[in-house]
Amino acid sequence: MCGILGYVGKGRPFRDLLGGLTRLEYRGYDSCGIAAIKNDKLFLKKRSGKVNQLKKDLSKSLKTVSSLCILHTRWATHGKPNRANAHPHINRESNLSLVHNGIIENFLSLKKELLAKGYKFSSETDSEVIVNLIDSLYTSSLEEAVLKAIAKLKGSFALGVISSSEPNKLIAVRKSSPLIIGLGKNENFIASDVPAILSFTKRIIYLKDGQMAMLNKGSVRICDIKTKRKVAYKIDTVKIKLEDAQKKGYTHFMLKEMFEQPAISTKILSSYSKNQKVHFSGLKGCETFLKQSKKVYISACGTAYHAGYVAKYFLEKHSSLNLEIDTSSEFRYRQIEMGKNSLLIAISQSGETADTLAAVRQAKKQGAKILSVCNVVGSSLVKESDFAIPTLAGPEIGVASTKAYSAQLLCLFLFFLYFAKLKGAIKNKEYQGLLKSLKKLPSLQRKILAGGKDIRRIAKAFSKFGSFLFLGRGINYPSALEGALKLKEISYIPAEGYAAGEMKHGPIALIDEYRAVVCIAVNDNLHEKMLSNIQEAKARKGKILAIISKGDKQASNLAYKSIVIPKVDNTDLNPFLAAICLQLFAYYVAKNLGCEIDQPRNLAKSVTVE
Ligand code: F6R
Repeated sequence: MCGILGYVGKGRPFRDLLGGLTRLEYRGYDSCGIAAIKNDKLFLKKRSGKVNQLKKDLSKSLKTVSSLCILHTRWATHGKPNRANAHPHINRESNLSLVHNGIIENFLSLKKELLAKGYKFSSETDSEVIVNLIDSLYTSSLEEAVLKAIAKLKGSFALGVISSSEPNKLIAVRKSSPLIIGLGKNENFIASDVPAILSFTKRIIYLKDGQMAMLNKGSVRICDIKTKRKVAYKIDTVKIKLEDAQKKGYTHFMLKEMFEQPAISTKILSSYSKNQKVHFSGLKGCETFLKQSKKVYISACGTAYHAGYVAKYFLEKHSSLNLEIDTSSEFRYRQIEMGKNSLLIAISQSGETADTLAAVRQAKKQGAKILSVCNVVGSSLVKESDFAIPTLAGPEIGVASTKAYSAQLLCLFLFFLYFAKLKGAIKNKEYQGLLKSLKKLPSLQRKILAGGKDIRRIAKAFSKFGSFLFLGRGINYPSALEGALKLKEISYIPAEGYAAGEMKHGPIALIDEYRAVVCIAVNDNLHEKMLSNIQEAKARKGKILAIISKGDKQASNLAYKSIVIPKVDNTDLNPFLAAICLQLFAYYVAKNLGCEIDQPRNLAKSVTVE
């Protein structure tokens, strides 16, 4: 994780560059820092805490113009989040500085060698080892020293390196951690992700894995780190607007992103369906493969995994097809014989999640084809996939995933309709009916958002509970998992998601008057069963919050409080509606408790380490 930003050019004030760094805070925000060449010397300022605090520390020098600079925002892996462990790191002579995103697996043995040579360390990080290693190999060329050093490193790393001895040069390296180059006029940038440099340029080079770049203000040279040979590169122009990565008057990114869901659904439906048919232009070349495919797997993490899980229920209910799903961190280590006719669907908002990328690489080795359902089109995942479905949700900045989840769900539902039709595994009437009902989604989502005030009131009543159990069945079992995840990650209240039928096999022991039980009891084929589960939890004094469909008196009479969603003919729409209710609920609980909603403790948006 961690965010890197680097600059070489005609000169930019610290203020601008720190603004760019702020837009990388979703990658980690426990400490941060800046190193710049100022009057031929290395200037360094770093601290624990967020970029805004660093800005305050630097208030007198925010106008300082720098022509060579590296910046970093950290998510701690090695060593606690304090000043010493914050990046940039420097060598003992203070003429070399480095920022790092990733993990160096052999740092202890390298550190031992460096200690034996007399090097001293002031942090517990693996990253400080790299700067000293470069120092130990630096004779006259920074470029050569970096190349020699990285040949000794095992693990994943995106690096930015500068030296006061070569004050016009910025070196960048990418190995299994994302890094892009931004091209400006008389200036160039490196960054972990596009939003950091959007206010400076839209011309991007996606550095490939195993490449090193040498930047100065007027040129960029890229080489392969193994062959050391110069390689050609492609310049892309990104379409994302800076406004897309801003709050637009909302108090939090999470709130703004929840409210974007209806518009995103409309965009997905109009982009991927036409004349009563689902169509994915990006999948044209693979129809024969999809038709002949024998096995389908889904691999994803966290919220993306929950989206895949809901979609599995959808596919299996409406077609004769089935699939296997696992979290990527498990999937990557399973001994699955996948073979050439297998399809792995990798779902990810960021497209940089280390475990999902590893699962993809593992599946590819076995001959499977990869379909990514991903929000970031320039990500490693999309680049490594055979086919991709962009989820079209726009930049998601809030660490708790909301709009990306519903976009993943909708794209997966549409893909499975298309896939089942291609394989002749769904009746045409059912296909048409489902597609028609999915088109109602944006207006239904709007209705839920309009009822946000009721959810805010209910959330206030539930904010005092010290623990939550979320229960659901069938297609809403993963909705319960997702509801619990949202609540725990932003409010820090222990919350467990469970299949309601499993409650009697253990979790029921936890239920008493202090336990809030959120039951997704919407109208569907398992409604009666959910009512029984509510009775059971209520009999043990659990405080029931039920998500129910309009007009369900039975459930509302049983519950302490209810959140009402529209009654839908196609019950496959329920997970979308339940998701918004649970997102709003988590948001308002966290707000009541005064939590840092967009940047919850210990988390990072993009989990680029295993
Ligand atoms: C939860 C959340 C995480 C991510 C997970 C996967 O709100 O955001 O659980 O869903 O880290 O991330 P991506 O989708 O980027 O692979």
